[in-house]
Amino acid sequence: MNVVISDTVKYIGVDDKTLDLFESQYAVPAGVSYNSYVILDEKVAVMDTVDRRGMAQWEENLKGALGGRKVDYLVIQHMEPDHAGSIGRLAELYPDMVLVGNAKTFVMLSQFFDLPLEGRTLVMKEGDSLSLGSHTLNFIMAPMIHWPEVMVTYESSEKILFSADGFGKFGALSAEDDGEGWACEARRYYFNIVGKYGAPVQALLKKLAGLDVACICPLHGPMLNENLGYYIGLYDTWSSYRPEDKGILVAYASIHGNTAAAAEKLAEILRQKGAEKVVVRDLARFDVAEAVEDAFRYDRMVLAAASYDGGVFPCMEEFLHHLQSKTYQNRKVGLMENGTWAPSAAKVMKGILETMKQVEVVEPVVTIRSVMKAGDLPKMEELADAMTAS
Ligand code: FEO
Repeated sequence: MNVVISDTVKYIGVDDKTLDLFESQYAVPAGVSYNSYVILDEKVAVMDTVDRRGMAQWEENLKGALGGRKVDYLVIQHMEPDHAGSIGRLAELYPDMVLVGNAKTFVMLSQFFDLPLEGRTLVMKEGDSLSLGSHTLNFIMAPMIHWPEVMVTYESSEKILFSADGFGKFGALSAEDDGEGWACEARRYYFNIVGKYGAPVQALLKKLAGLDVACICPLHGPMLNENLGYYIGLYDTWSSYRPEDKGILVAYASIHGNTAAAAEKLAEILRQKGAEKVVVRDLARFDVAEAVEDAFRYDRMVLAAASYDGGVFPCMEEFLHHLQSKTYQNRKVGLMENGTWAPSAAKVMKGILETMKQVEVVEPVVTIRSVMKAGDLPKMEELADAMTAS
């Protein structure tokens, strides 16, 4: 990828378009990029490496950018293997290179690699800086975005923020534009990867507020160099668990299609009653990470599920556990269950929702017996009224 940042800051990352699942769990139909950068000054600094899957291409990119020069520093902002995977190779290529991280970085580095570190490390803490010549790297600790050792780096001469996983996005840089804009896959990335850590993201945003940033260089996805207020504003919304849009996610878990039919009917009623936006997702088939994204995006959600083995149909339980682990909160939720002999889904769903902060389960809970009938409609209307009441 020929990505231009500046005359002295070069992109040397790689696209991965053959990865089946990112982190062995997230579908990436448009691939993913492992971003890495090199700063050419009196001293040369590489900003993070790449996943081992992209190591050969990255090494070629690096050597092309260096034009025969050597690497003086490797700045390690994040030790997760999708970025740290090629540290061993870089250390082997440039034995005099100094590794720059923080105290936690080097504990993890020793767990992942058996490298001779004696005299080869610079341990940074909040507010420390490193001069490369005309460029200065300023280190800002960003613990839990998304591991404890994460730090971001502000290069003050060109006003570049190297933001680690922050402001990252699924999708290879060379992938065709899907017309969805940055936010769609950035939101799915954020809530599934970083979503649990809203408070640390808020803390980082406060630190960044005092900086004059012209360009954000994340470790995944495109470099951002215009309209930065838009991206920072979305991160503020997402990390404070405020809904981004008014709307209702109707997520259903149906075994034979009867719960699905009831969920679709409820969605129709919600639309008739003027809900701003209603999206319906079949949890047995739809990407659960995208359903998680929808749940956080909208201010309300209706869960419709079949009862199963005295509990709830598994894909609904799995979805709720994802929401629970990403600290879903501050939303209004309606429930609809289906059961042929002993409906149990609502009780289980409610039990999980009760563990979440500021989640209001609205009444009434609708119970369908096997197949939705005309007699069920008044209760469904009542639930829809409660969900659309302002
Ligand atoms: Fe892209 Fe947390 O690694």
